[in-house]
This record gives sequence, C-alpha cells and structure tokens, in this order.
Amino acid sequence: MNSAAGTSSGLPAPPATSGETGARAVRGTAFGHGKVILIGEHAVVYDQPALAAGLAMGVTAGATDGTGRLTIPAWDVTVTAGDESPVGRAFGALLARLEVGDVDVSVEAALPSRAGLGSSAALAIAVARAVALARGRDDETARAAAAAAETVFHGTASGIDLAAAASGAIGRFRRSEGWRELPVLQAMPLCVGLTGRPRDTRAQVEAVRRLRERTPAVTAVIEALGALVEPAEHALAVGDIDGLGRLFDVAHGLLAALRVSSPELDAMVHAARAAGAVGAKLTGAGGGGAVIALAPGHERDVLARWKSAGFEGFSTGIGGKLEWPL
Ligand code: MEV
Repeated sequence: MNSAAGTSSGLPAPPATSGETGARAVRGTAFGHGKVILIGEHAVVYDQPALAAGLAMGVTAGATDGTGRLTIPAWDVTVTAGDESPVGRAFGALLARLEVGDVDVSVEAALPSRAGLGSSAALAIAVARAVALARGRDDETARAAAAAAETVFHGTASGIDLAAAASGAIGRFRRSEGWRELPVLQAMPLCVGLTGRPRDTRAQVEAVRRLRERTPAVTAVIEALGALVEPAEHALAVGDIDGLGRLFDVAHGLLAALRVSSPELDAMVHAARAAGAVGAKLTGAGGGGAVIALAPGHERDVLARWKSAGFEGFSTGIGGKLEWPL
C-alpha cells in the first residue's frame, strides 16, 4: 500500500485538506478543471480541430482507504462503484481500469454539474488522478481511467473535455492529434451564462450524428466550424478580442444549423450582443447548458441583462488561469 499522500504535479494547489477524512488518511488529492469550448464543439467529434479553455473553477477529489464509495455533497451524489446509477457505473469503469477497489473518494465541487462546463470530465480527471496517486499508478493510466468514465457518461466523447480538464490552459485539440497548449497574448475576460436547463451531451452528439447521416450537406457545416479554428488561434495569439468575438457569432450560427441551439441559448446570445458583447455563442453540447460572450468593458451589462431575463452567469478569465474579479 502506498502510505504517502500525493498531489498531482503541475496542477494548481487544491483547497487545503486536513489530511484526514474522518479517521482515514487522504492518500491522494487531485484537481480537475471545468472548461469552455471556444470554437469547434460537435465538429471535433468528426476529427475537425477545436479550441477549449480550462476554467480556474473545477472539482477536487481526495482518495482514502475504503470500499469503493464516491461522495459529491455539492451535487447530492453518493454512489458505490459499479452500482446502476450513471455515476456509479462510470466510477466502476474508472476503478477497473486502475485495477483498484479498496478506496473511497470524496469530491468538493465548485462547478455546477451538467451545465455545459465540463463537470463530468473534471470529475473523471480529479477522481482518476487522486486514486492513481493513492495507489501508485502513473498519469497515463489515470487519463485512460478518466476516459473510461467519460465513455460511460457520453458514449463517443472526442476527448476534448478531458484534455481541457487536465490542462486548465487554452489549447487546440484534434482527435487524431491530441491537445496542444496555445500561446495567448493576454488573459481575456469571458462572460459565462447558464440556461439552467441541464445539457445531455450523449443525446446531442447522437442527434448530430443522425442529422449528418440523413443530410450529407451537413458535412460542409462541420467543416466550416473546423475552418474557424485557425483564425481564432490567430486572434488569441495577437489579443484580437473583436476578431474572436466575430468568430463566436459565426460559430453560433453554424451550431444552430446543426440544431444544437435552443430558444434559451439563442435568447442569451442575443441578450449578450444587445448588452455590448462583441460576440457570443453556445458552448459545449448545447440543447441546454451554457453560453459564452466576449464583452470587453461591458461584462457587468451582459450579466445584468441575463439576470433580468432570468439567467444566472459569471465572469471569468481565460488564458490566465485566474478568475476575473468584477
Ligand atoms: C462537449 O463538451 C463537446 C462535444 O463536442 C462532445 C465531444 O467532443 O465529446 C459536443
């Protein structure tokens, strides 16, 4: 048994833990970042490139000696590995890949679940790394275990959510190429709005797959989304917020053509633009979930406009790993 408590290297320090959960010592602690997809959700499933940014907010997991229980008080979740619930099945797949059974994991979540901000990937990465540290498995095995959990949650996940959850930075991802962190001239403030309607990634990915099968012209929409990535990379590299905002607008239109937008997402995108945003789009799988808006100098106006329409939101910084105080 590995008696030393570990902390995954290269990650922000998690909230302080006492080293004890009840009477049991914490053997491994790890963090998983929430994420926003800047450009290329859905297209990335078909091996188009995409850009994502890790959020400073995420989830922290602590692994103790135990019997295969996972508790996430903030999401009101308590499961046993392999039980019938989706989280129980995902946790079972994760532990099986790590060949570990004798741990309990406790999770502190500062990220809303199923809001389009990568909660399941952040959870999978944090739990897999915490258990791997507790039982002496390497990080490659931890990532494979996290991927096994994501497959239970989302079916054919591209892997972009896991890559962003593990990295926390802005990066470019392509299925056939993996994740590469990108140079960013300056941290950018980003408004994130929540529809309050839970997203269902598996259902949305499946709906796009059916649409593409029935309507071959949809392939051109998917390729058009991929073609936005290079100019978006350039905009990030030179700090061109207006240019990136215009690309957000184009991306939202293309995602609407894939039928993954919704009346709430469209209303939030239009409200953000009316409040001074230079661009806004849905982020993640769509259907419900979240929108992002670039609104330099108008962040408060966007958040106020969303609030008066009944939607919660917050402002964050991307590219700087810092929450953006308002
Ligand atoms: C979900 O955050 C992103 C999707 O492209 C699905 C995936 O890439 O696995 C919709």
